[in-house]
Amino acid sequence: MADKNTKILRGRLLTFSDTPNGPDDTGAYYYEEDGALLITGGRIEVRGRYEEVSVSAPAKTPVEDHRPHLLLPGFIDTHIHFPQVQVIASWADQLLDWLNDYTFPAEQRFADKSHADRIAGAFYDALLSHGTTTAAAYCSSHVNSVDAYFEEADRRGMLMLGGKTMMDRNAPPALCDTAQASYDDSRKMLEKWHGCGRAHYAITPRFAITSTPEQLDAAGSLLKEFPDCHLQTHINENPNEIAFTRELYPDSAHYLGVYESFELLGPKSLLGHCIHMTGHELHVMRDTGAVAVFCPTSNLFLGSGLFDKAGIEGAGIRTAIATDVGGGTNYSLLRTLDEGYKVLQLQRQRMHPLTSFYWVTLGNARALSLSHKIGTLDPGTDADIVVLDARATPPMALRMETAETLSEELFVLQTLGDDRAVVETYVAGKRQKSRIPA
Ligand code: GUN
Ligand code: ZN
Repeated sequence: MADKNTKILRGRLLTFSDTPNGPDDTGAYYYEEDGALLITGGRIEVRGRYEEVSVSAPAKTPVEDHRPHLLLPGFIDTHIHFPQVQVIASWADQLLDWLNDYTFPAEQRFADKSHADRIAGAFYDALLSHGTTTAAAYCSSHVNSVDAYFEEADRRGMLMLGGKTMMDRNAPPALCDTAQASYDDSRKMLEKWHGCGRAHYAITPRFAITSTPEQLDAAGSLLKEFPDCHLQTHINENPNEIAFTRELYPDSAHYLGVYESFELLGPKSLLGHCIHMTGHELHVMRDTGAVAVFCPTSNLFLGSGLFDKAGIEGAGIRTAIATDVGGGTNYSLLRTLDEGYKVLQLQRQRMHPLTSFYWVTLGNARALSLSHKIGTLDPGTDADIVVLDARATPPMALRMETAETLSEELFVLQTLGDDRAVVETYVAGKRQKSRIPA
């Protein structure tokens, strides 16, 4: 019996199977000028040339024709803060002042479920209008925020990762839990949400400064009990943060050693920033398989420093890219790629546009160990798709008059594009962007 949501999406398809080494590396990506996807039951069933796909589809399958736009896998944001929707664009000094002056006050309001619900609606509207279909987010330290976060994701059918932020010191009392309460609440939320629909729970100790050793130990116990879950935290973002961490954990040889000693590191550990890494830390990162998450707009906004992609990847460490809103300044992964490109240019590391679009799709899916479900247009995966228009604004259209290759088009999208270039966002095969009021 045919699913009533069976449909064909027609357009120019682009999806990756590996990191491309430039445009000639056609084994690493699939591009089809007149392509189509047959979608049924929220999944991609067939991918190919439009003529072939339409023949394989049931009679009278509706066609949503997006030509001449590009269809890519939905963007994946591997590090964002759900309670910082009203913190973005706050004029502050560097990390620790920004946290104390803006972030911690804003996060306190998430004790109130109705506030968390309202912001969750706005948060998902922002993600979807910018073409992001999956994100890994920090909620606040309140269970209400975790419920609001996953309830709204569930309503929209989105694959989201997230968890209660664990923090028991160096923050206002209204945000602080205790080691035991953070364990109990995280466990309660994990058991409630992990595997419910498309939800994935991420154990979330904020960073070493806001956790006692007892709390990091509790986070390590949870990870041992639920090894299928992710763990997310921050590291080596800012010199003052690093100095304070060394005071709080004088017995650790280095910052990463703190997390290592509580057994927080593994292939599902997502470590935000990783800017000021020592040689020892690089070795530990590589050996554990933990992921270094690059947050370019945040790193520039907070003056944190330059992420050394070549150095980190050269050391054998897995990487991801993310917005880090509200330290980050835009929900758009196109804007994020643009700023990331500039951060790398300053270090004489030039990222090819095909590598950029690999990174925000399959690259980030691999970093999340979720590439069997998301991040490609492969048959059998979830139909989370973004439709992009490289002529969305007059300056883009003018520049596109002289663009001759796919790589040039992608570079225009990354350099000049934002939510205006996102024509549509599909979640599990359903249109989402066009439902959001302008
Ligand atoms: N380190 C600890 N908490 C945060 C946060 O909310 N944002 C950023 N950028 N860094 C952090
Ligand atoms: Zn962050």
